Amino acid sequence: MNSRRKRVAVLISGRGSNMSALINAAIDPTYPAEITLVLSNREDAQGLSVADEAGIATRAIPHGGFKTRDDHDAAFDAALTAAKIDIVCLAGYMRLLTADFVKRWQGRMINIHPALLPSFKGLDSHARALAAGCRIHGATVHFVTADMDEGPIIVQGAVAVLKDDDEASLATRVLALEHQLYPAALKMIASGAVRMSGGATVFSDDVTNPAQTDPLISPAC
Ligand code: GRF
Repeated sequence: MNSRRKRVAVLISGRGSNMSALINAAIDPTYPAEITLVLSNREDAQGLSVADEAGIATRAIPHGGFKTRDDHDAAFDAALTAAKIDIVCLAGYMRLLTADFVKRWQGRMINIHPALLPSFKGLDSHARALAAGCRIHGATVHFVTADMDEGPIIVQGAVAVLKDDDEASLATRVLALEHQLYPAALKMIASGAVRMSGGATVFSDDVTNPAQTDPLISPAC
């Protein structure tokens, strides 16, 4: 009944706490994906040593060594293909990907963004949510398409914005939620419960609303 576990690469540029959440989830042999590669555009990305200590293959391909963005992404693509990767998870990967690369991995590449999309795309989402007076904030996992933070939404989680919140306190609560959301979203894709089709997220018949089966709304609400 069980098909093989999907081979996953996580792309990082920094600390890699979401990467760690995925690695930890995949320790369970019944989880439908295994993290087989962590790839970074920065040799000094903290997450690389964390992944290495967890026994996962790591590779840094610094973008500085390439003439064009296309050349760099082609090197990433070659590394992913050589590792027989099925699914790519962007986890704090801080470089825009080329249209060709995105097209090649479309439907098989997901990202986590620290806001309730389609609000607050791009950087500084927590500061902007506070400045806008939001009472609810959160995080989103979505399929990656050519436009940044635009792809079809897979799962979202929310936290209440508390009256004394500053950027750091809000970021801390959202990050804790991200660490629940990302493994949940990868599980749905790797198990076939969700896929991207016709520019939309399509759930299989036995999934009605992922928020009903996985309580992803923070208790702080
Ligand atoms: C996370 O907030 C994620 O949503 C965003 O970048 C941050 C990466 O954090 N895309 P980490 O490296 O996973 O700790």
